[in-house]
Amino acid sequence: MALVIRPLEQRDFQNGFLEILASLAEVRLTPEEAQRIHQARVLAGVVTVVAEAEGRVVGTGTLLIERKFIHGGGVVGHIEDVAVGSDQHGKGVGSELVRHLTDLARQAGCYKVILNCRDAVMPFYIKLGYRRHDNGMRYDCVEKG
Ligand SMILES: CC(C)(COP(=O)(O)OP(=O)(O)OC[C@H]1O[C@@H](n2cnc3c(N)ncnc32)[C@H](O)[C@@H]1OP(=O)(O)O)[C@@H](O)C(=O)NCCC(=O)NCCS
Repeated sequence: MALVIRPLEQRDFQNGFLEILASLAEVRLTPEEAQRIHQARVLAGVVTVVAEAEGRVVGTGTLLIERKFIHGGGVVGHIEDVAVGSDQHGKGVGSELVRHLTDLARQAGCYKVILNCRDAVMPFYIKLGYRRHDNGMRYDCVEKG
């Protein structure tokens, strides 16, 4: 399978991107709404990439870059929302996405890249050179109805 990892483009909102994100959580956006959100994210420096195979989107992942006051103004990468279409699992797509995002972080001068994941997914990241570090915490600002 010939795989291309490239930045998210407008046409992807009609080409499988939103369906793949739905494996992470409900999306509840029309393609037009998603497009507007993408434009705002790009202006904020958020980098979303897709994996394309045979003309359709089969995976996605996002990188946020944060400049800190600590570590002498060092730069940290945050990987978010990595997902691969369920019919494409186990073919190396997720690995290619995470390697690509990690390379982008390195090129941006990051001294580390961090992410949150469920325990069950840890082996996937460990195979890519990541290690367990700290614990994730969450506060729900909106009560679930
Ligand atoms: C996790 C996910 C992105 C992996 O993508 P993928 O394309 O199937 O992964 P790869 O084919 O590159 O797998 C690489 C290795 O990690 C392992 N792996 C993949 N998914 C795994 C999982 N969920 N748990 C444990 N190991 C996993 C594979 O077995 C493979 O091992 P191998 O090299 O020894 O064969 C994909 O399963 C997915 O989209 N899951 C649903 C969404 C999700 O949980 N995203 C992570 C959010 S943090």
